[in-house]
Formats: sequence, C-alpha cells, structure tokens
Amino acid sequence: MSGPVNTVELYYEERGQGLPVVLLHGFPFDHTIWQAQQGALSSSARVITPDLRGHGQSPATEGDYTMDLLASDVLALLDRLDVPRAVWVGHSMGGYILMAALRLAPERITGVGLVATHPLADSAEKRIQRRESAELAMENGSADTAFSMMSQIFAPDVDGTSPLAQSVYDIMVNTSPSAIAGALRGMALRPDSTETLRELSVPAVIVAGAEDKIVEPDTARAMATLISGVQLVEVENAGHMPMIEQPDVTTQALSSLIRMVSVQER
Ligand code: MLT
Repeated sequence: MSGPVNTVELYYEERGQGLPVVLLHGFPFDHTIWQAQQGALSSSARVITPDLRGHGQSPATEGDYTMDLLASDVLALLDRLDVPRAVWVGHSMGGYILMAALRLAPERITGVGLVATHPLADSAEKRIQRRESAELAMENGSADTAFSMMSQIFAPDVDGTSPLAQSVYDIMVNTSPSAIAGALRGMALRPDSTETLRELSVPAVIVAGAEDKIVEPDTARAMATLISGVQLVEVENAGHMPMIEQPDVTTQALSSLIRMVSVQER
C-alpha cells in the first residue's frame, strides 16, 4: 500500500494464552459471531477477536473501507498487543481482509483459516450492485441490508425467527450505515487473490457451509485446489455462518489448524 494509512483503534476481546489466533468476522457482523470458537479455542491459544472498523464497538469513518485499509487496522491492533505473528482466520469479508494482509505483511501470518470466503474479485455487475446498495444504506439506514442478508445467510433448516437468527439480525442492523456503505464500496474495489493463495506456504484450512448461498461449495472446492496441503471441511447443515450454525465442527477445523501451526512453530 503506498502513502500513509489512517488506521483506527479497533475494539477487541482477548482470551487464553499461547499461540496468537485472530478471528475476523465478515460483513456486516461483529466479533460476537465467534463466541463459541473464542471459548473453546482459548484453552490452547491466545484468541483475539476484533470488531472491524465501523462494526460492533469499533469507530466508523467515512469513505471506502478497502480490504488493505481494514487489514492495516488489524495489523495496527496486533502491533498494539505486541503480537508480531499470528494465525489469521477470516470469515467471508474477513477472508478478503486476510488475503490483503497476506500481500501486505505475509511474514506476520503463521496459518490461515478461510471460512465461507473465496479469492475472486467482484464481477462488473456485482460492483454496480454493491455501489447501489451502499447508496441505499446511506439514504435509508442499515435495516435494508440486514433484511436482505437474512434471506441468504442461513441454511434452510435454521428458523429465521429463532433467538439466534434474531441476534444475528440485531448485529447487522446495529452496524452503522457509513460502515455498511464503506465496506460495500471497499469490497467492490478488491483485487483477485487467486495468486496470493497459490503462493501460500503456511498451514491452511477451509471451512465451507454445504448450503452456503453466498459462497457456494463449488467455489470453496475450487479455492482448495489453489492451496497445497489445505484441509477442506465441508459443513453439513450450514450456510454462510458455519461458526454459528455448526459451532463444534467449525471449532474442530480451527483446532486442527492451530495444531498444524503449533507443530510447525516448534
Ligand atoms: C460477508 O459475509 O462478509 C459478505 O457476504 C461478503 C460479500 O458480500 O462478498
């Protein structure tokens, strides 16, 4: 990234000791989506769960939230915590941020968890759609985005009126319109990360919901062919939110990543 980067101080939670692991939520969620994994993984690792810029309790700014900018916020947080190297796990947009970090500071990443994400850039049509949705969020607030995401993120068996589904809706509707618009415009600007993943030389795990409508299983399988030695975990009865829909399977996959990195770091 050229020129100065204006990072913001991210809100975060931290639990456990040992190998640092940072869990990045997707759009437009917050760190609480990782609650189950944070609890389980913190018995063997130092688990750091930030809220990305403008999400959860982190400050929002105006302008485009490029993936480089969001990755720089996370790198600045890890500097603040004196964590030079960590396992990075990214959910969806969190995965796009992880891939940006792999270009910005590969030496700081000891292992990679890609959850319901993919390396492809947006099509021209998708970019236009994102910019239109960004304008609508600025005009009408966050509810439209939250409402339309609700129809896409869960596997069909998840009851959309359950307390769990309601809590995810609440997270989305509480994300500021500036953050929704900034992240949508930022995602539209992201480059293709295929080569970034092809060059990966640290342990990696992919977690893919078998019923994900946003990142379909075929896309996850194609991503797996790019990464040598990757472990692909397809999660039955999960859509775009495997960490919430099937928390134990997701935790097991991430535990396996932590074990692989621990062996390599010895
Ligand atoms: C996410 O969950 O982060 C988003 O659905 C990603 C996207 O819109 O590409």
